[in-house]
Amino acid sequence: MIIAIDGPAAAGKSSAAKNLAKRLGYLYLDSGALYRAIAWKLLQEKINPESQADVEAASQLIEIDLRLKGEQTEIWVHGVDATPSLRQPEVTRVSSIISTYPGVRKKLLSIQRSIGSEGGVVMEGRDIGTVVFPEADVKFYLDATTPVRGLRRHQELEQKGIPSDLEKTTREIEERDLKDSRRHVAPLKKSEDAIVIDSTPLNLDEVIAQMVQEVEKKLETRQQGSIQKLK
Ligand code: CDP
Repeated sequence: MIIAIDGPAAAGKSSAAKNLAKRLGYLYLDSGALYRAIAWKLLQEKINPESQADVEAASQLIEIDLRLKGEQTEIWVHGVDATPSLRQPEVTRVSSIISTYPGVRKKLLSIQRSIGSEGGVVMEGRDIGTVVFPEADVKFYLDATTPVRGLRRHQELEQKGIPSDLEKTTREIEERDLKDSRRHVAPLKKSEDAIVIDSTPLNLDEVIAQMVQEVEKKLETRQQGSIQKLK
């Protein structure tokens, strides 16, 4: 099966997707890390992220290599492990600018589709259920209120040793969500057939429990479908 998880920033998509994939023995892909990898490389090469033509041309040449290390996926760019730098605020800011460019999205679309082509994958991002895998077997839209997401992101950054100011971090995710939902190509939006989970009052285990229940439901209906066919 292909499981798609979309939603705004810091709604808990990565943790949920990672855990769900582990429970199911599936591959996990954080598609945002691909946008961040491009952003990271552009920053290294001092390419102006506001220049769409320069970014689109440069991004075609960026070699991204995903290496699975246990439950972690390392993102290597031109032979360098970029993973430790991908959550830096500057990389975050640039990733949201360059993700509005069709040339960047097209490049990453083919990487994402080739990873998911065999199924057995939990992929999370903004457009997985709408654009990358519109035929995904189960789609979730994970949300939470802005203050809760702001606090979660603030705590996550502090834990990683990245200095964060709660108010600024909350404002940053709000601005990024706005940009992600207003862009013309593959905007952040709930797919019509997505199951909405509001994680505001839930902890991670509760979110995963709901997801597992929905996946099991899907598997059961499928099994019943094939039994019907045999009859
Ligand atoms: O972890 P967080 O939710 O803050 O962000 P992320 O998933 O790492 O994504 C970083 C940025 O990449 C987003 O703000 C989007 O602009 C872009 N992105 C996208 O456009 N489409 C995706 N499928 C995933 C990320």
